[in-house]
Parts: sequence; structure tokens; C-alpha cells
Amino acid sequence: MKKLYIETYGCQMNVADTEVVFSILAKHGYGRTEEISEADVILVNTCSVRDNAEQRILGRLEQFNFIRRSRAGVLVGVLGCMAERLKDKLLDSGKVDIVAGPDAYRSLPALLEEASKGMPAIDVKLSRSETYADIVPARQDGRGVSAFISIMRGCNNVCSYCVVPYTRGAERSRDFNSILREASDCAAQGYKEITLLGQNVDSYRFEDKDFAALLAAVAEYCPGLRIRFATSNPQDISDAVLDTMVAHANICRHIHLPVQSGSDRILEKMRRRYTRAGYLERVAAIRGRMPDCVITTDVIAGFCSETEEDHADTLSIFREVGFDAAYMFYYSERPGTLAARNYPDDVPKDVKVRRLEEIIALQNGLSLESNRRDIGKRFEVLVEGPSKRDETRLCGRTAGNKMCVWTDTVHKPGDLVQVEVTGCTQATLLCTICPLQPAR
Ligand code: SAH
Ligand code: SF4
Ligand code: F3S
Repeated sequence: MKKLYIETYGCQMNVADTEVVFSILAKHGYGRTEEISEADVILVNTCSVRDNAEQRILGRLEQFNFIRRSRAGVLVGVLGCMAERLKDKLLDSGKVDIVAGPDAYRSLPALLEEASKGMPAIDVKLSRSETYADIVPARQDGRGVSAFISIMRGCNNVCSYCVVPYTRGAERSRDFNSILREASDCAAQGYKEITLLGQNVDSYRFEDKDFAALLAAVAEYCPGLRIRFATSNPQDISDAVLDTMVAHANICRHIHLPVQSGSDRILEKMRRRYTRAGYLERVAAIRGRMPDCVITTDVIAGFCSETEEDHADTLSIFREVGFDAAYMFYYSERPGTLAARNYPDDVPKDVKVRRLEEIIALQNGLSLESNRRDIGKRFEVLVEGPSKRDETRLCGRTAGNKMCVWTDTVHKPGDLVQVEVTGCTQATLLCTICPLQPAR
């Protein structure tokens, strides 16, 4: 059996795709290894979303090329979004043997076969229909705690800054029943939590079923699972989805709702299809139904033409919503996108960085406030494993996706336990285990 090592960068979709690749190649005699030193094939599943993500990966490819040249027979391949974006440029560098885009993973066995004969091999065709619906992912979390289920691929939104529609192709939804089947297989294998994944889950549509219908069906079909989903686009998250969350206690009270900017002028330039007022209306709709729902976001500082006033609007929408957590970035121009073609990247780097730091400082305070509000409350937490810093402590997440740590030598990964919050940092809830655990 040949040994396959895969390193994964980027979003959760890539993590899910890596599991599909392991599954496809397992059928062709490739076993998984965690050790680069014993790998016959090294694949890197890549991300193009920002330049620094790509630069880091290119650096890593140099290291893999070194291994490739010093150990005969080792093949190196690039998968995912950079494969799609850079195509044969990657092969021309002479540093890799295989390039496979996100819709080409079924051809990996053939590509590897070709490459093993010394011929560089590439497949970057995008598909209108590929969803890998029939492939059972070889999950990386073998402990049966939390599983990703991809429900759609691609994206049709074409936000002006974003490379994803070019690297992932057109949006397509996966067969409804295949999702239900995979969710119930996860439950049968002992997983306690699943996350339904797509770039824009609210535009899921398969025959007459929309995302609310899918969410309700999964929640009812798998009552023992905690159910998460990501990502929701502000213009598309419907009342029906919110009502479905309210109606099902096993759907986690957490919505990741990327705002990107608080300025209407910038939102329009970004081709986001909501306004500041529209965004705040959706937040009110969420909180009106689920006052305890955790809301997290993504933001981009320093997009083309952003003024200090636009930036102040972003800071103020952060204050107004009081996000529980955020992923924060400064704008990185991506070749080929609408913004790269139409708008100069005119906010100087030092200004971008300063604005980003201001957003981060504000959000750190908001995260701390959000966590302080939880002190004294009890939560059900899904145990992930020992805490990184202290082996006598366990860590795991609440339904709202907040990280908890507590002293515990009894429970194990995959257990659902009751904890009480006694303190916090901005990133973590410090808890004690409740003496009486409810039967479950
Ligand atoms: N589909 C999701 C986001 C996918 S990309 C959505 O629409 O919200 C994840 C995040 O990366 C985005 O939300 C955005 O905040 C950030 N991002 C995307 N392109 C970027 C760019 N060119 N520069 C900086 N950040 C970017
Ligand atoms: Fe990119 Fe916009 Fe699609 Fe999200 S919705 S993946 S930001 S184009
Ligand atoms: Fe990156 Fe591609 Fe995901 S660009 S964020 S890995 S869809």
C-alpha cells in the first residue's frame, strides 16, 4: 500500500474535500499517513482567498519540492483553489507533479498514475454538476466528535473582492437524500455534531427543497446530533430558516453572518446585496426569535476607496451588533476579480493595517463582554479533548460555538457534559463541571 499525506489550508470546505480525496484514493490503494517522512504522495489542498495564504503555501511547496528531489519516487500535488487559479503555472515551475482543481478529484488516481510515469498531470476542469454526493468521506476526526457535511459547491454571488467563484465555479446543490443519508451515517458512527457546509447555504435548492427544508429534515432525522451550518449570507438568510432553528432544539444557536463592511457605499462596491440597515434588520430578526443566539462575522478593512468615514461605519456596526466573535482581514487584491479589474487598490498598506488593528481591538473588547455575560450560566458542551495548555483539563464548545475549559479527568472526546461558567478570557469560557449530569 502506498502512503498518502495531505496538508489542508483554507476553509472548512477544503477540510471536507480532503476527506473526499482520502476516500477516493483509499479505493486505489493509498493509505493515510500523518508523517511526511514516510509519504509516497504529498498533496496540498490550497486556498487562494488572500495573498498571504497563497504565499505561505508557496513556501511550503518549496519544502515539499526539496523532499521530492531528495527522495526518489515521491510525488507532490497541488489541489484546491490555487490549483484552479494558477493552473499550469504550477506545473511550469517544475516543482510539482500533479495539479487538480476542486471538481477534478475523481481523476486523481489517473493523474497519479500518469505522474508516476514521469509525466506531469493536470485536471482543472470545473463542473456544473459535481457534488461528490456518492462519496463517503474518510473523516479526519476519527474520534467521532464533529463531522463536516458539504451540501453545495461553488458560488454564484461574485462579490467584487472574492476569488472563490473563479476557483470553485458555479453554485450547485447536492442531492437532498444523499445529505440525509450522510447525516444519519454520522449519527450511527457515533458523531455528536455535524456542520452543513456551503459558501452560501441559504441558497441551497434541490428540486422543491430549500435550505429551511433541509435543515428541518436533518434535525428531525437525526435528533441526537447537534447541527451547525455555515456560511449564511445576510441577504439570503430567511425567516423560514430562523423559524426552523427555533422549532428544533438540536440546531445550534449560532449564525455566522459575514458583514464585510458597515458602510453602504463600500457594501455596494463589494457587490454585497444588502445594506447596513438590511443587515441590522436580519440581526433583529435573529435576536427577536433567539435572544441567546451567538452571532459571528467576517470583515474586510481597507477595501478599495474606503475612507475614514466608511471605516468608522464598520466600527459602529460592530458596536451596534456586539458580535460574539469575528474573523478579521485587511483587503487583499485577487487577480481577475471584479474589484481588481475595476477599482484601484488605493488604501495604503499601513492604513489598512491600522484600521484592521482598530477593528480587532474593538472586537476583543466585545468578545470579552460577550463571554462575561455568560458567567454564572450553564451550558451543554461537546468534549473535544484535553486542553492544549493543561492535560488535566478538557475543552469543548457550547452550542453557540464558544470554547470552554474545565478540570476533568473522567470524560472523553465526544461526551456531552454540563458545565457552569465561573470566569472567562476574551477567547475562552472558564468553567467547572456540574456535579449532577442530566441523563442523555
Ligand atoms: N462565502 C462566505 C465567505 C467565504 S471567504 C461569505 O460570503 O461570507 C471568507 C472570508 O474571507 C470572507 O467573508 C471575507 O471576509 C474574506 N475575504 C474574501 N476575499 C478577501 C479578500 N480579497 N481580501 C481580504 N479578505 C477576503
Ligand atoms: Fe465569495 Fe461572496 Fe461567494 Fe462568499 S458569497 S464565497 S464572499 S463571492
Ligand atoms: Fe480558500 Fe477556496 Fe475556501 S479560496 S476560503 S479554500 S473556497
